[in-house]
Order: sequence, then structure tokens, then C-alpha cells
Amino acid sequence: MGRFYITTPIYYVNDAPHVGHAYTTVNADALARWHRLVGDETKFLTGTDEHGQKVADAAAKSALSPHEWTDQTSMRFREAWDAMNISYDDFIRTTEARHFESVQKFLSAIYDNGHIYKDVYKGLYCVSCEDYYMYEASDHGKCPVHGIVLTEMEEENWFFRLSAFEDRLLEYYASHPQFVTPETKRNEALSFVKGGLKDISITRTSIDWGVPVPWDERHVFYVWYDALINYLTAIGYGSDDDEVATWWPHSHHLIGKEIIRFHCVWWPAMCMAAGLEPVSHVQVHGWLLVGGKKLSKTMAARGDVKLTDISPVLLTDEYGVDPIRYYLLRETALGNDGDFSLEGIVQRYNTDLANNLGNLVARVATVVHSKCAGVGPVAQMNSPLREHAELAVSETQSAWNRFAPQAALEATWGLIGATNAYLEQLAPWKMEPGPEVNNVMGDALEAIRLVSILASPAMPATCDEIWTRIGMAGKPTDAVFNESCVWAHETASRPVIKGDPLFPRIKSDE
Ligand code: MSP
Repeated sequence: MGRFYITTPIYYVNDAPHVGHAYTTVNADALARWHRLVGDETKFLTGTDEHGQKVADAAAKSALSPHEWTDQTSMRFREAWDAMNISYDDFIRTTEARHFESVQKFLSAIYDNGHIYKDVYKGLYCVSCEDYYMYEASDHGKCPVHGIVLTEMEEENWFFRLSAFEDRLLEYYASHPQFVTPETKRNEALSFVKGGLKDISITRTSIDWGVPVPWDERHVFYVWYDALINYLTAIGYGSDDDEVATWWPHSHHLIGKEIIRFHCVWWPAMCMAAGLEPVSHVQVHGWLLVGGKKLSKTMAARGDVKLTDISPVLLTDEYGVDPIRYYLLRETALGNDGDFSLEGIVQRYNTDLANNLGNLVARVATVVHSKCAGVGPVAQMNSPLREHAELAVSETQSAWNRFAPQAALEATWGLIGATNAYLEQLAPWKMEPGPEVNNVMGDALEAIRLVSILASPAMPATCDEIWTRIGMAGKPTDAVFNESCVWAHETASRPVIKGDPLFPRIKSDE
């Protein structure tokens, strides 16, 4: 079995978590769960990015110390992820001592390797982006993303010689065609490199909320410079070389498209400069849009979108955890932008969950009780459903393996559709008790068993529940995947439980 190390971006704690953050985190969680399911040794990291001007400003506004503020807000991210059944193995905070140590070691390595020098920086700064803009790239002195007036900054800073890494980055891209996926985002990243790289200012003296520069204590590191290193801190960079060697070659960063330049240009160059192989894979996803606009805290502050209506916790309270997880994974192909709407959630819920999955489980349990005395029969080896099941297993597997949760769920739901069609065609509810109805119900139960394994990365609690209802012991994730995902693997009949509807329909006028 392999290894799989997946990370989300670490989220700024200037405000509360919203559904845009949840989108990344749920995708990373489902991918981590998939890899655990197939037996890979898996590590899933998320956390909070707690330094920088933006966070310091938010703390100052709240009249709390930066530490109090970050403790409080970071906790809100943990609470949101707990509410969404996120199975992270580690939650990193950039204010932790382990992170300070690893940042200082990593950047000292770059310094010792001669890639850092001192100079004066003059430029326009956007606090919301935590990034500099050339005047030409700005919107007449305003941030092109946030529309706020850029601040003129002039500071003596330490610089990273990014320009020296142009050729090595191009070579890395050429020799690692899968470094950035999907292809369109890889091209975008590559065009940043081909467009020419300027050295970057990596320290600040204007604020003290950050990791101190070990060779010049008047400076703290620029927030992005400290943040990227979190992916290494969590696997023991600077303190445990074996852990780094174990996990780093299997690293996958899942990120939103607006932070491509940091992850696909700066970060690999920083790793090269520190004498480390760059991250092996960056999977970029698009934005969730509300009415065509990116869902962000800044927009909420401008009054365009009410983010309080779309906090992940409110959503899961309203629609249930697994329906929201399913919606986020199923609605949009990873890499594309997607529209987020409450109508879309209700539509997916009623169609895919209530009508297809929920209805299948309910009607099978009902017929097993009325025609088979509540005992689930075994499947036929030569069932007409077998081919559908084998196709669903192989397509679901290949989709998860290529970071395509939407396609994976589509393939799994193909089996649900085929099973519902099979039942409608044969109408076992009209049959007399006996071998014929037993065969049909055995086949349907076997299909449901496979669905509860295949859908478990997306809807873990629902799949556990279905597993129990069809009389299986333990959880769908307990078995060895390759053995249990074989048609007619279950050869014993089992008691089937009739339960409440898994997904009671939502009336669309509610
Ligand atoms: N702190 C940096 C990341 C540092 S990583 C070393 C940051 N934080 S953030 O809080 O702004 O979160 C950015 C991430 O949240 C995006 O890359 C994306 O993964 C997710 N999203 C934020 N808004 C989003 C949408 N509207 N849609 C989809 N994802 C969104 O940038």
C-alpha cells in the first residue's frame, strides 16, 4: 500500500470560517478518507494562518491581543471542521512553537545557501491579499481583487532571490508533468514562471506580529513566507528528518486558484533554495461563486453577500452534515468554478439523496421485511447487476485516484440508478415469497453494500448507518477494500433493519 499526505491551505483567522473554506476542507477530507479506505497510510493536515497585517488589524479592532484573537478564531475553524466530520490528523497553527522552529530552520538554510540578501523595498501593498502590486498591475492604485486603495510601503527588507530559480523551475515543470493539476492551472502557473520572476521581499519591520528572522531580530518574516512552511512543520521539518523523508515525497497540496503563484512558483523555488525536493503535487480547485461572484469575507464586508447565511455550521444544522458534504463534492468538478445556491442544495438533496439513495435503501428494507421475513438473502453470482457494480467500482476508484470526487460520486450513483431500475423492472414487491424474490433482493442488498463502501469518503455517517441497516457488522471502512469490493463477496444472509427515512424530502417551497 502507498502513502498519501494531503493538506489544505491554512486559513486566515481574520474572520470566521465560511463555506468557501469548507469546500476545500471537505474535498481534502474525502480524498484522505478515500486513501485510508484503500489502505494507504494517510496524513491529512489543515490549520490556521495566524500572522500578518490582516490578522493583526482584526485583533486590534476587536480590542483583544493578537494571541487572544487567534486562539478564539482558530477554535472556530476547528469547531466548523468538527461539525462537518472532518477527519484531519493534525491541525497546525502558525503561532505554535513547533512552527517557529521549523520556519527559522528552513529560512536559515536558504540564507546559508546564499539566496537571501538585504535591499530597500518600495511598493504598493494590499492588506487583504497580503501581497504587493506594481502600479501597472493595480487598478489605478486600487487592489484589482479587493478594490481597496493600496498602501505605499517603503522598508529595508530581506529579499529572496526568486529570479535565480527560473530555469530550475522550468526544468521541474518539464520533468514533473503532474506537478500541478488540472492542466489549465498548470499552464497558468507555468506562464507565471515564463513571464519572468522578480526577487521577493520576505521580511517586515513595520509589524512585529510574525516569526522573528533568526539572523536579524528587528525583522519578522512576511506572512506568506512563514505560512507555506506549515506543510513541512507538520511532518517534523528541522526536528525529525525520517518523518520528512517518509511523508514529503507523497505530499499533495489542495488549494484555491487564487494562490497558485505562491504554491506553484514561490514554494517550489523556496524548497529548492533550502535544498529540498519541492512538493510532489498541487491540485488546484476553482471558486464557489454566489450569483457569479467569489464568496469571500471582503465581499461580505462590502455587503454583497451575507456570509452569516452561509457559514458551514449553519448549513449543516439546516440540511445535515452528509447532504452538505455531498453537495460540495458532487456539484462541481474539482478545478472548475461552481455556483453555490440553497436551491442547488435542495435539488441535489431531493434528487440524488432522497429519491435515489434513500428510496433504494427504504424500499429494499421494506420488501425484505414483507417477502423475506426480514432476512437479507445473498446475491446471485450471475446477477444482471453485477456488470454495473463492477463498472461502478472501477470507475469510482479511478476517479478518486485522479482527484475527481465529482466523477467518483457520479460513478457510484450510476450503481444506485441501475439498482433502482432493476427493482422497477422486476417489481419484487409484487412477487410471492420464494427464490425469485430472494434473488432480486440479494442482488439489491449487495449493490447497497458496495455503494456504502464507495460513498463512504463523501458521506461517512450515512454509509455507516446503511451498513448497519443491511445487517453488516462494523463499518464499511473496516474491510480490505480490494477484497470487500467484489460482487457477491457476502455469502451469509443477514437481518435487515427498517429505519426512518435517511433523507426525508425537503419541500422546495420551504
Ligand atoms: N492563508 C492563506 C493560505 C496560506 S497556505 C500556505 C489564505 N487563506 S484564506 O483564508 O484566504 O483561504 C484561502 C483558501 O480558502 C482558498 O485557497 C480556497 O482553498 C478556500 N476558499 C476561500 N474562498 C473560496 C471560495 N469562494 N470558493 C472555493 N474556495 C475558497 O489564502
